[in-house]
Amino acid sequence: MSLIKSKKRVADHGEVFTPDWLVENMLDLVKGETERIDSRFLEPACGSGNFLVPVLKRKLAAVQQKFGGAEFERQHYAVLALMCTYGIELLTDNIAECRANMLEVFADYLDLADTDESFHAASYVLSQNLVHGDALTMLMHDGQPITFAEWGYIGKGKFQRRDFRFEVLAQMSSFSQEGTLFAHLGKHEVFTPMMSYPSMTVRELAALSSVRNGGVAL
Ligand SMILES: C[S@@+](CC[C@H](N)C(=O)[O-])C[C@H]1O[C@@H](n2cnc3c(N)ncnc32)[C@H](O)[C@@H]1O
Repeated sequence: MSLIKSKKRVADHGEVFTPDWLVENMLDLVKGETERIDSRFLEPACGSGNFLVPVLKRKLAAVQQKFGGAEFERQHYAVLALMCTYGIELLTDNIAECRANMLEVFADYLDLADTDESFHAASYVLSQNLVHGDALTMLMHDGQPITFAEWGYIGKGKFQRRDFRFEVLAQMSSFSQEGTLFAHLGKHEVFTPMMSYPSMTVRELAALSSVRNGGVAL
């Protein structure tokens, strides 16, 4: 496996990919979190997914262990696992590769065809969670502020979504540090979402996929 695409890209964007063995060792430092279906991971310079792909694989292994014998739950918790992985990437080709790599792992796990609803729902989730933008300026490639969807599974096949600005989420950890003025407040008292959505099913998520609507592929 090559760790660089070109010397120019290394010089221009610091693009050196982390080898698999090192990724696994680093993820083992937070093993419990990587094996929790609903723990949230953000990779702010995600490249083609060297960290996010193994995180997703570990989460899907947890889905299998917990819901392997219950197909409805297995499918929905697999979607939730995907919903809890986030990335930001500056370069167009890398973000497209990252989305495609994540979709492949998800589709393989559920044995999906590219015509299946869950495939399109996953494609939509990835288009929202893996952002083409700049993690330093916190702006998307079109100049709009980066926002992230906080997804949750509320059971019976329904997912909820609230959107927050990245800039606000980045401040969250400092707000909850001991000794600060806001330490006694719950996060919900300080941080309000930009947008809340009605609960959605996999079918409704799939209908939002641009691929399904004749848009460009990921
Ligand atoms: C060192 S590579 C690491 C990729 C991946 N995280 C890994 O460990 O294999 C850095 C990646 O960050 C991207 N990048 C550089 N500056 C960035 C920025 N300000 N915002 C988002 N991505 C950035 C590069 O395009 C490149 O894909």
